[in-house]
Amino acid sequence: MPHRTSLITGGASGIGRATALRLAAAGDTIIVADLNADGGTETVRRIEAAGGTARFEHLDVADETSVTALTTKAGPIRNLINCAGILQNANRVEDMDLAEHDRVWAVNYRGTYLCCRAWGGIIAEAGGGSIVNIGSIAGKRMFPVPAYSPSKMAIHGLTEELAADLGPRGVRVNAVAPGFVLTEALQARIDAGERDTSIMESQTPLGRLMRPEDIAEGVHFLCSDAAAMITGIVLPIDGGWLAGVTYYSYAGLKKN
Ligand SMILES: NC(=O)c1ccc[n+]([C@@H]2O[C@H](COP(=O)([O-])OP(=O)(O)OC[C@H]3O[C@@H](n4cnc5c(N)ncnc54)[C@H](O)[C@@H]3O)[C@@H](O)[C@H]2O)c1
Repeated sequence: MPHRTSLITGGASGIGRATALRLAAAGDTIIVADLNADGGTETVRRIEAAGGTARFEHLDVADETSVTALTTKAGPIRNLINCAGILQNANRVEDMDLAEHDRVWAVNYRGTYLCCRAWGGIIAEAGGGSIVNIGSIAGKRMFPVPAYSPSKMAIHGLTEELAADLGPRGVRVNAVAPGFVLTEALQARIDAGERDTSIMESQTPLGRLMRPEDIAEGVHFLCSDAAAMITGIVLPIDGGWLAGVTYYSYAGLKKN
């Protein structure tokens, strides 16, 4: 197994933690970069308990100074996985608090942009590698989350742009678009009555919510040599939701 380092933003929880554990199991040295030191340390503990190598670094993806400081501290890396992000509840455009709007864009889009910009060249100089951004089905179809959905659409666009930009320097850039993933963040919203799992499941052909591990498998594939000629794609990992949501909306056909 060749030595390689993967840096995972948002690795303290949810999809980021599952991705950190999956890449560690494949032999990568992991840098867990997050605002949340307790969660990040717990991810490191779990990786080490499984025999892997990891360390935690503080990072605020929305803060350029914090991103720049970590590029120096982290050293060369092969893979960057941009999992840091914040969810949002349903709202109308005219009712949405502008401070929340700006924060969603600052973390989800600008945070991804800052990290890709900071580490793209570092990955190229270290011999090439891979960036995987976490988009969403909400970046493929519009949801009533007026900053979140557009920010994920922009991440999908940025992924294509960077694939063309960095491909000649040996850096592949892809995204995954998760469906509804049962992470701590989503569970908290289900518990608060802000999400209805029966609707999510009934619109998903494969009939269940995603687990963080389902998304981590896709990220692992995109970072692996098996994906050596794949760049610029947005891979849905949604149990078929993108196909099902329009199919099931057509009246007159009952789902089994
Ligand atoms: N859960 C879902 O259903 C779902 C679906 C599609 C896409 N996503 C996306 O997956 C990503 C991870 O979501 P999750 O469900 O695992 O959420 P989560 O809350 O479990 O994990 C997000 C992590 O990002 C960290 N974070 C937040 N702001 C940060 C910042 N400014 N700097 C550094 N770290 C920061 C948090 O501390 C947390 O550890 C997000 O981009 C989210 O939009 C989630």
